[in-house]
Amino acid sequence: MKIDILTLFPNMFNNFLTESIIKRAINNKKVTVNIHNIRDYSKDIHKRVDDYPFGGGEGMVLMPQPIFDAVNDLKKEDSYVILMTPQGIKYNQKKAYELSLKQHLIIICGHYEGFDERIRTLADLELSIGDYILTGGELACQVVTDSIIRLIDGVINKESHLNDSFNNNLLDYPVYTKPVDYKGMKVPDILLSGHHENINKWRYEQSLKRTKERRPDLLGED
Ligand SMILES: C[S@@+](CC[C@H](N)C(=O)[O-])C[C@H]1O[C@@H](n2cnc3c(N)ncnc32)[C@H](O)[C@@H]1O
Repeated sequence: MKIDILTLFPNMFNNFLTESIIKRAINNKKVTVNIHNIRDYSKDIHKRVDDYPFGGGEGMVLMPQPIFDAVNDLKKEDSYVILMTPQGIKYNQKKAYELSLKQHLIIICGHYEGFDERIRTLADLELSIGDYILTGGELACQVVTDSIIRLIDGVINKESHLNDSFNNNLLDYPVYTKPVDYKGMKVPDILLSGHHENINKWRYEQSLKRTKERRPDLLGED
């Protein structure tokens, strides 16, 4: 998979791309991530990328020209263009799975007051990571990119994400590691039994119980 990200703040991606599982996925050529500075595409003599909103009002608005040119330059037949915006559909694990199957993603990060309305016409999908406002799309884009990359074949052990919360509309079961007894809090006996069938049954029951208690909406029960 290839991911092209358009941003006014490329440095915000430095640590994100050079640590942990994302770094490994890039080094192992499971994914290529390119960060593009929107400003580099500006045809303005002063490299301006934003201006005041027509009709007045607060904040600066990203102009269409640099973003249209960037997307047109990067876009291929199999590209899928995502616009990060709090007004988009709300992101979830199902969408992460869908997007992890795409060949090429182009993700546009807004900033300031937002972007010129005409930029919307470039997007195959408008995506929000939740009902709150960030200063820019960079963190939102990192949330989306991270959750997609870990689902790409060969990035992490498949077993590991099949049991993650939200698969089969369930939250993950509780997990424990050493020591067996920590300050009187003990690991459930079943997990020490070595009986895998019973352990799997217990885990499923725990997942169901947790989901009912914490997220009944996932089971259609709220
Ligand atoms: C300050 S916000 C602009 C919000 C805009 N005035 C509105 O109310 O829709 C600047 C940029 O941050 C990004 N952004 C902010 N919150 C977001 C969210 N919850 N999900 C995705 N992107 C977000 C978008 O790219 C947005 O264009």
